Amino acid sequence: MSDLSACSDLVEHVSLLNEAQIIERIFKHIDNGTTDLGDTVWREPVAHYHTQERFDAEIALLRSLPVPFCPSAALPEKGSYIARQAAGTPLLVVRGLDGEVRAFINACRHRGMQVAEGSGCSRSFVCPYHAWSYNLEGELKGIPGADAFPDVDTKQHGLVEVSATEKGGIVYVKQKGQINADSMENCLDYFAPEQKMFQHTELTDQANWKLLTETLLEGYHIKSLHRNTFYPYGLDNVNLVETFGANSRVIFPFRRIEKLRDIEPSKRRLDGTATSVYHLFPNASVSVLSKHSSLTIMEPLSPSSTRLVSYFVVNRQTDDIEISVEQAQRDAEFVQSSGQDEDREAARAIQQTVTTAANTHLTFGYFEKAIVNFHQHLAKQLDR
Ligand code: FES
Ligand SMILES: [Fe+2]
Repeated sequence: MSDLSACSDLVEHVSLLNEAQIIERIFKHIDNGTTDLGDTVWREPVAHYHTQERFDAEIALLRSLPVPFCPSAALPEKGSYIARQAAGTPLLVVRGLDGEVRAFINACRHRGMQVAEGSGCSRSFVCPYHAWSYNLEGELKGIPGADAFPDVDTKQHGLVEVSATEKGGIVYVKQKGQINADSMENCLDYFAPEQKMFQHTELTDQANWKLLTETLLEGYHIKSLHRNTFYPYGLDNVNLVETFGANSRVIFPFRRIEKLRDIEPSKRRLDGTATSVYHLFPNASVSVLSKHSSLTIMEPLSPSSTRLVSYFVVNRQTDDIEISVEQAQRDAEFVQSSGQDEDREAARAIQQTVTTAANTHLTFGYFEKAIVNFHQHLAKQLDR
């Protein structure tokens, strides 16, 4: 079973195409020279890519939604932690001794120093400034020279917790209010517990987070932008696009999918013949490739800069053949060293034109259905 179909199988109420349907539909498109189409042309004002006002509204929205923070596999043990900014807030996300994941604002209750940085595994967090210490549950456990703070009630000075939950192999964090089950209904099971993380990368680009997100969600640019990288292996503008709520899945077939034509439909397996990209509204995506999958979070730093935080996991074995970390790494290197840089470059180039008089809007057509879905939902949520 491929990972792609595994994802579909685990969906309870979200109806996505299964493996056989995917393959059949791709062949139909190839034979007819067609692709999946939307039915709406969307015009997004360029101001939404560079104004502080729009940026502030988006940050407020990001803080009010359950947003992917990392894969569960990035916090494999009791005491595993990751400290990084999410929607402008320094967060510390920790797996406790009880196995539960908790998220805290990474700010010491003495004078606000960040108590942890990067990632690792620990039994406590000792603030580097004056050594106040906290346990994995965020409780304040020690104040050096405590007599000098007669009024500090340690029970009232734990790290400030924000809502966090795990679902389908992803840790979600919501900074404002509690996560409720209804808001998680479109969160699929993306990663299985046995999928190990093998890499984590962070890149910063001078581009709005939406421009970077948009590069992932259509295959209309494969031939022109990726002529010498993806195009020799992939089909241009042959995509399956499915939306589920504000989220979507875009499937990009490789040319090698043709080899499945000779196989009886019931025995066909997608393995390595297509990439699927799930957009997890608003600023995250899961890409499922042949040997590995990745979770990327576009962290907005300013209206015109973004940190791309990516976590890479090994895919599950296919037909009893285990995938090694080395194979997964090679798979990931191919993507990173080729087309991904071209997408980032395009986003940076567009950022420089959105402040000019050239366009009042960016236009998204029928081939860009997943992006239209993204903007429709973003507009609706920001309107509330
Ligand atoms: S700021 Fe953390 S101990 Fe002083
Ligand atoms: Fe691309």
